[in-house]
Amino acid sequence: MSQSSDNPITKSIVLAITGASGAPYAQRTLHALLDAGIHVHLVISDAGKRLLHDELQISTSDLSALLPKPLDDYAGELTIHNNKNIGATIASGSFKTDGMIIAPCTSNSLAAIATSQSQNLIHRAAYVTLKERRKLLVLHRESPLTLADIRNMETITLMGGVIMPATPGFYTLPQTIDDLVNHITARILDQFDIKHNLAKNWADQLKENKQQDKLARD
Ligand SMILES: Cc1cc2nc3c(=O)[nH]c(=O)nc-3n(C[C@H](O)[C@H](O)[C@H](O)COP(=O)(O)O)c2cc1C
Repeated sequence: MSQSSDNPITKSIVLAITGASGAPYAQRTLHALLDAGIHVHLVISDAGKRLLHDELQISTSDLSALLPKPLDDYAGELTIHNNKNIGATIASGSFKTDGMIIAPCTSNSLAAIATSQSQNLIHRAAYVTLKERRKLLVLHRESPLTLADIRNMETITLMGGVIMPATPGFYTLPQTIDDLVNHITARILDQFDIKHNLAKNWADQLKENKQQDKLARD
């Protein structure tokens, strides 16, 4: 796969998928990162695998269905880690990455991260990301929230993490579920300054809305 000229070749990001509703966000984020030439370290919790199956009909025994191309085409660009392997590269701060995205993130994993628990690789990698002062983006999905969720979000924010609720905006005038998924994925990539063509930012959207208003008036 060719590297995007807009993004540095060395960029690598940990992408964790946990068992919250929103598997399409995970798949779109994975595709967008690979498209941008980012090396992805992918790790999926057991509940995350179940959600991939329930929401995208992707079998846990054949994760290649998560990808747009055969797994072999991603040699050197995608590393899939076992969530039980707490000795994986991404469990160490000396292994450099450009940050971590947890999409979607459960309240369970939110709590584990807020309390610095490291009983699986996802939680350890998130801990490492925070301790090394790298960007941790948590796409949390649960509704409504408990006070524990809110306090855990506050704690992670105070540690430098970014909490992003999986709530798409409607100012882009979405027509399909794909549009909504793209909107959230675009905001995730924006957090890491990764170029994409998934959705417009608000300034560009305003311009387009004004053009449409003018066309409607003329
Ligand atoms: C179909 C389904 C949907 C779920 N959706 C959510 C959700 O949106 N948010 C959440 O916090 N937990 C959700 N859960 C519960 C988590 O999967 C469960 O707490 C699990 O232990 C989380 O483990 P993990 O954080 O290691 O992925 C869901 C479970 C199932 C089976």
